[in-house]
Amino acid sequence: ASDIKKKLLLAGHKILVTAGPTYEAIDPVRFIGNHSSGKMGFAIADELASMGAIVTLISGPSAQQSKQPSVKRINVTSAAEMLEACLDNYPDSKLCIMSAAVADYTPVTIASQKIKKQDDHLNIDLKKTTDILKTLGEHKQPHQLLIGFALETENEEQYATEKLKKKNLDLIILNSLNDTGAGFKSDTNKITMIDKYLQKTIFTLKSKTEVARDICAKVAELINQ
Ligand code: CTP
Ligand code: CA
Repeated sequence: ASDIKKKLLLAGHKILVTAGPTYEAIDPVRFIGNHSSGKMGFAIADELASMGAIVTLISGPSAQQSKQPSVKRINVTSAAEMLEACLDNYPDSKLCIMSAAVADYTPVTIASQKIKKQDDHLNIDLKKTTDILKTLGEHKQPHQLLIGFALETENEEQYATEKLKKKNLDLIILNSLNDTGAGFKSDTNKITMIDKYLQKTIFTLKSKTEVARDICAKVAELINQ
């Protein structure tokens, strides 16, 4: 009976979630990536689906599998591909949670052949990627909501609050890497939520499944308020 009740919390709402790393190609066999596992985004997508939401999950390269068969997964590789998929899907969505670890820089050119080793030093020219979350914030309509993450190692709350404002977000989830056990490859996270009214909620170190539950409870509150 409580499962049926839960299914009603987000019934019928279309929600977009991003997860995982992006891979930026250097040449046909190499890329620049990061250690994001995708666990947080997949856990959020599953929890939202269990609350009745219609979930589209845009994922970078990740070994994760959705536990909820209703989650529609779109696989992408690079930041540019993730941007395109997000722009395609956000207009139709009530809310987007951007939990992907998007590369900040990408090679200016992709070598068409494998780069051969030559000198002792090799420089690869990089250019900034488009900030997907900021772009969605610029496209956001009055009926839509936007949630971002912030990964910080210093001045955490100040930097997270700046991102919340700069990217036109309704909520930012600060990921604290400082606490032992929290982070990219682990199964736990320590988060602080800051909403657009600058209301702050601090959470204890928890499993990513439990963190997903906290985040999705907040999503239901934002959507139903
Ligand atoms: N993000 C994004 N597109 C990018 C870079 C980041 O959409 N090209 C999103 C992330 O998915 C996250 C939020 O922006 O939801 C914050 O990412 P983070 O790396 O913490 O901040 P940045 O704005 O990239 O700034 P910096 O890395 O310099 O702290
Ligand atoms: Ca970044």
